[in-house]
Amino acid sequence: MTDDRLPADDPLPADELLETARRAARRAGEIQGERFGDPGVIRSKHPRELVTEVDVACEDAVREIIGAVYPDHDFLGEESGESGGGSAHRWIVDPLDGTTNFAQGLPIFASSVAYAHQGEVRVAACVIPPWGEEHWAVLGGGAFCNGRPVRVSDTAALDRAFVATGFPYDVKERGDNGLEAFGRMVLATLAVRRPGAAVADLCCLAAGRFDGFWEVGLKPWDTAAAGLIVTEAGGRITTYDGGPWEPSSPNILATNGHLHRAMMDVVAERR
Ligand code: IPD
Repeated sequence: MTDDRLPADDPLPADELLETARRAARRAGEIQGERFGDPGVIRSKHPRELVTEVDVACEDAVREIIGAVYPDHDFLGEESGESGGGSAHRWIVDPLDGTTNFAQGLPIFASSVAYAHQGEVRVAACVIPPWGEEHWAVLGGGAFCNGRPVRVSDTAALDRAFVATGFPYDVKERGDNGLEAFGRMVLATLAVRRPGAAVADLCCLAAGRFDGFWEVGLKPWDTAAAGLIVTEAGGRITTYDGGPWEPSSPNILATNGHLHRAMMDVVAERR
């Protein structure tokens, strides 16, 4: 892989960024593998939102790997928040996505590392340790799982669609919690799943396992890397109303493209 996929004004070679992103995501994945079944002290950020010792250990490891190569870059991590001084280069990291699954011993969790230049995500690496899977993408360079190119599904009929979603931790407090859309989607599709790790859900969409995914209230660290993997695999991502999506958007509708309009209508109750 060469850096000619990035504009000439970008000084950073994509292959080096990708190598660092993959190394960091793999290291977090190794820690998760070693500590699965032994999550350590668990505390709550919110009555439903857990954080374990492993979330923090993974973020420390990722930050150390990225900081050793790119000490001047900004960093946004789920556990440590925002740091840096307004650099054009920013890393967006979920050290352990699917924390509740991990803490409960359910093998659906992931690490996620994205690199963005001037707000545009260009490099992504996600590791799903219990499945032995490493997903990655470079803007304009396609998406891969364990070295093989991946492509979204070609399912075009909503009643054949196998889709996934999730719910925000503040599901009880917010009006737009997605519960009604969940019911409508169950009736409209082949089946709906709620696996509990948005990074894994989006990687499954990119790999053609799921045909669509939607969720409200996700954070940039949940979607920055896996969002690029989906679009590089040929998928489409918008907000619920079809507007342009970015990792900081309040909601996400990601599909194989064929089902986008139909899923948007169900989410928005226009059918
Ligand atoms: C959570 C998972 C879950 C989604 C939640 C996220 P975390 O991330 O991705 O599937 O429904 O909204 O917050 O907290 O386990 O990193």
